[in-house]
Amino acid sequence: MDALKEKIDTLRRERNAVILAHYYTDSDVQDIADFVGDSLALSQRAATTDADVILFAGVHFMGETAKILSPRKTVLMPDMAAGCSLADSCPADEFAAFIAANPGRTVISYVNTTAEVKALTDIVCTSSNAVEIVRSLPPDEPILFGPDRNLGNYIRNITGRENMLVWDGACHVHEEFSLEKILELKQAYPHAKVLTHPECKRPIVLISDYVGSTAGLLKYAVNDTSTDTYIVVTEPGVLHQMRLAAPGKTFIPAPPSDPSCGCNNCSYMKLITLPKIAAALESLQPEILIPEEVRRRAEGSIRRMLEISARLGLV
Ligand code: 13P
Ligand code: SF4
Repeated sequence: MDALKEKIDTLRRERNAVILAHYYTDSDVQDIADFVGDSLALSQRAATTDADVILFAGVHFMGETAKILSPRKTVLMPDMAAGCSLADSCPADEFAAFIAANPGRTVISYVNTTAEVKALTDIVCTSSNAVEIVRSLPPDEPILFGPDRNLGNYIRNITGRENMLVWDGACHVHEEFSLEKILELKQAYPHAKVLTHPECKRPIVLISDYVGSTAGLLKYAVNDTSTDTYIVVTEPGVLHQMRLAAPGKTFIPAPPSDPSCGCNNCSYMKLITLPKIAAALESLQPEILIPEEVRRRAEGSIRRMLEISARLGLV
């Protein structure tokens, strides 16, 4: 394994490559990355890196976002099958028809979408900045939000925006968490706090002590001094950075409804492995390519998100 890590290091230097990893990838992948972050931080890095090659240790829409922002760079996905059930729940032609049937609305799309959906979008958001991006619009602005129904409903409840249509999509991982099993864990660990990603269903959000993006959950877990035990309701890959940053604390992954299914793991993120990273750096394949017309239109919606986030100091 050390030989593999050395190979990755050598290739990374030779290719002038940067390895960006999402918190949901396996620990060994996070450990060799140049930067580990949530979707917002990863897109900010992809927009500003001076590397020639970006290797995305994450899922396809993240690689696409990097390519949209840095079209002259080579963007590598170690496994092109690393998709996203949430992005799949929003085909571009159906989303275009939804927009056409509801004209005059500002279209806000979660970053977990294809480049084609981003090209139909006015402003992209991530779970780190979705509430602030909606709040940055006039209070009576009609909004069409896609594709995550749980995040959309969470934003609607927090901001009180009634005039907000939400696409009916979801992430198969975050939909699987069981309220009953989380409540049982709370009984077993009465002093534990529940930290939840907003892609989870509303009943779980309602019993949570903190709701936020993966970076938000990590920051909260590290800085909070009220307890030392946390039930973490998101993909368990993020527990690796929590344990590194707060070794004295206990982090308990929330179980899915059927504990034997392992479906609280994002099977797409877990497709990214060290051997595939080495192979991609060696062959400079597979590479993300996006038709220029789609890329150009998608770029505007991502740049708008980055501008609003920079203005509001969201990193
Ligand atoms: P964040 O990176 O915004 O926390 O969202 C997580 C996600 O669903 C990535 O798949
Ligand atoms: Fe997509 Fe869900 Fe996996 Fe995130 S956890 S990449 S939203 S399938």
